[in-house]
Amino acid sequence: MNKQFVVDDNVLSQQRYSDKTIFVTGGAGFIGSNFVLEWLAKNRGRVVNLDKLTYAGNLNNLESIISDPRHLFVQGDIADSTFLRGLYLKYSPAAVINFAAESHVDRSIHGPEDFIQTNVVGTLRLLEETRAYWQGLSVSDAQDFRFLHVSTDEVYGTLDPSDPPFTETTAYAPNSPYAASKAASDHLVRAYHHTYRLPTLTTHCSNNYGPYQFPEKLLPLLIANATQGKALPIYGDGANIRDWLYVSDHCDAISVVLAHGKVGETYNIGGNAEHRNIDVVHAVCTILDELHPDSPVIPHAKLISFVKDRPGHDRRYAIDASKIRAELGWIPRVQFIEGLRQTVQWYLQHPDWVAQVTSGDYRHWVNKNYEARSKA
Ligand code: NAD
Ligand code: TYD
Repeated sequence: MNKQFVVDDNVLSQQRYSDKTIFVTGGAGFIGSNFVLEWLAKNRGRVVNLDKLTYAGNLNNLESIISDPRHLFVQGDIADSTFLRGLYLKYSPAAVINFAAESHVDRSIHGPEDFIQTNVVGTLRLLEETRAYWQGLSVSDAQDFRFLHVSTDEVYGTLDPSDPPFTETTAYAPNSPYAASKAASDHLVRAYHHTYRLPTLTTHCSNNYGPYQFPEKLLPLLIANATQGKALPIYGDGANIRDWLYVSDHCDAISVVLAHGKVGETYNIGGNAEHRNIDVVHAVCTILDELHPDSPVIPHAKLISFVKDRPGHDRRYAIDASKIRAELGWIPRVQFIEGLRQTVQWYLQHPDWVAQVTSGDYRHWVNKNYEARSKA
């Protein structure tokens, strides 16, 4: 049966939360801010957006909705139980979507502590306060409540070229401190469902790209560097493979899982778009040659520079998204090349956003991560 209507109309998810409040954690980051903007644009209900505003959180992402009465931004930490308790008392959400995390693999290699603190301790405290709140709800509100945890495909580890893609039953084998911390948080979410019956949902998504992504991740880093005539660093031989999903497709998938997912289940989300890093870099360069011919170095591919590999670099990720397609009718809508073009265009049209996020601390990070990587 074709259930594509779920995504096309958003009828059910709209009805479900239209007169309710949801909590979004990490809603000033890349995916969280895209999600909040889309949730409000589609009139799905009110959002309390709680975010610690780490280096990755950016209120400029939310500029267009800052005075929207359906959106309330609150600065705070998911590891702060007192803060969370107060928010639950005040706003009585019908659902929580947990995006808040330390999210960059390279930073987790340089310093894993923050990842344990937010991704593990933070998720535990959030679960604990959520449980206390949920146990105080009426029977019908408790039944309707959802805790959706946004996880990653990286918890499954790495694939060889001929391996089948990750399914929801693939064994966990996290290889980076980031992936290990996300795996730990997934296990806590699972345990809260099995032990306390908290109505949880967990999603595992592949690499996202699109507007508002912080330029420490591959795609926005390439665009920012290429337009300034700076080197385009490729780790190792560039043959590592990622599956790429345009961020709005991920946001749609989360809304669908929230409205229709089966409590206690996990759902893999992917773009069916596996590409080698080197091919992605060439694709970005080709688009930039056309859209930004005034860059200091043309063609942009001249800037490609192979650098020392990331330690423990996972070779390949691939997602089998047949469960979410078969059970909930979700499929990705944006083709990779089309999404890449839109992404490049967005960054070219938002030089102020890029300038703001790449000032200050960003430079320290770039020095720390790239200076020690002599050319391969
Ligand atoms: P991001 O780093 O851009 O944003 C994370 C946000 O969380 C930031 O706004 C930050 O300020 C906030 N935050 C960090 N620590 C916090 C804390 N202790 N309390 C409250 N807020 C805190 O990350 P992203 O790329 O938007 O990823 C969002 C989620 O999606 C993460 O859980 C990540 O693991 C998951 N995910 C990301 C991808 C991807 O490709 N980016 C893919 C799959 C899953
Ligand atoms: P990244 O965007 O950091 O996401 P993840 O590590 O979560 O997949 O990296 C995507 C791929 O690009 C990954 O294989 C590492 C590689 N990469 C580079 O080759 N050069 C870079 O400067 C960065 C940041 C990543």
